[in-house]
Amino acid sequence: MTLTSAFIPPADRIASFKPYFFAALGKKINELKARGMDVIRIDMGSPDLPPAPFIVDSLIESAKRADTHAYTPNGGTPAFKQAVAKYYLERFEVDLDPQCEVIGLIGSKEGLFNLSQVILNPGDISLVPDPGYPVYSASGLIAGGEIFYFPLTRERNFLPDLDAIPADVLARAKILWLNYPNNPTGAVATMAFFEEAVAFARKHNILLAHDAPYTEVCFDGYIAPSILQVPGAKDVTIEFNSLSKSYNMAGWRLGMAVGNQDVIRYLFTYKSQMDTSTFAPIFAAGVTALSGDQSWLHERNAIYKARRDLVVNGLRAAGFTLEIPRAAIYVWAQLPKGYTGSTEFCARLLEETGVSMTPGIVYGQHGEGFVRISLGTPTNRIEEAMQRLVKWIE
Ligand SMILES: Cc1ncc(COP(=O)(O)O)c(C=O)c1O
Repeated sequence: MTLTSAFIPPADRIASFKPYFFAALGKKINELKARGMDVIRIDMGSPDLPPAPFIVDSLIESAKRADTHAYTPNGGTPAFKQAVAKYYLERFEVDLDPQCEVIGLIGSKEGLFNLSQVILNPGDISLVPDPGYPVYSASGLIAGGEIFYFPLTRERNFLPDLDAIPADVLARAKILWLNYPNNPTGAVATMAFFEEAVAFARKHNILLAHDAPYTEVCFDGYIAPSILQVPGAKDVTIEFNSLSKSYNMAGWRLGMAVGNQDVIRYLFTYKSQMDTSTFAPIFAAGVTALSGDQSWLHERNAIYKARRDLVVNGLRAAGFTLEIPRAAIYVWAQLPKGYTGSTEFCARLLEETGVSMTPGIVYGQHGEGFVRISLGTPTNRIEEAMQRLVKWIE
């Protein structure tokens, strides 16, 4: 379904857009449920677990105060920006000026989308990973930009070959999007790759936009770095982060962008025209999450790890090929022999078993032949989903 209207047509820049994949999938799932099907959703990356109780308490206490209900400062409260700077210093040893190198976001998706609006002129190119989070390309197209997709392949551990991007593309490129730990592949980047990427962005005068919402979801002893740990990265880089996955706060809509101060300023100006920040108690709880006790994250990650292992074993038993992810909340797996179309595979699996996975094609052409499984679903349901899958495939 594209956007059409008998009364008034939509603007050209959105006319060819379809609703976001998960919006349409939700509708389909509601229909199946209405027909009595027990649907297990292992498609969307939305954590099922709550944040630690002390974070929720902080929201409640703040909301009970009389002075937290007015408009909140654009770009976030000073306390939140300070907490972000402190978190970056303690967690990554990255020094940020909370006044001009940090901005609060209404979830990082908002900031990713708006980055394209503040950087791209019509005809400018945005360099986007394929597969990749769809907002990078959608936001670029809506801004009037062009998208050049670079492949992430298993052969290269889902790290791009930046030198393969043609010179004429680079000459018009304004943004290079990267995302590690990666959605949808679960891949992680080495510091050596981050150094290469920063040097590349500097050489070609391109803004490096690193999307890093999964830095706190790591397994097997892995600790995800920030790209801002590369010396001098701030000259050419903006990093997005979020409390959605790190602190199980996806519905709260709280994220941040940090790094290059010019770009932070552009975002501030743009956002101050279009939104009026978010509810102060959400920022207050964000401060508590970022600066409070972090030990609960170990227990949370142990739950994800147990789920990951269930999924890895289930998928392998069903004939999928995959790498075991060391971070993020996804398993990215190549369809068993004999299957090629990920859309058809997922549609049939859903119709016939009630198990909902995400087709890899949603993330780009190079995602075809893969599916993405999310770990944000209760463990017993994931176990059941894997049992249904293995039985169905046999
Ligand atoms: C790679 C990536 N970036 C950004 C987001 C958006 O997160 P937020 O909830 O902060 O908007 C997601 C959510 O799934 C994601 O996977």
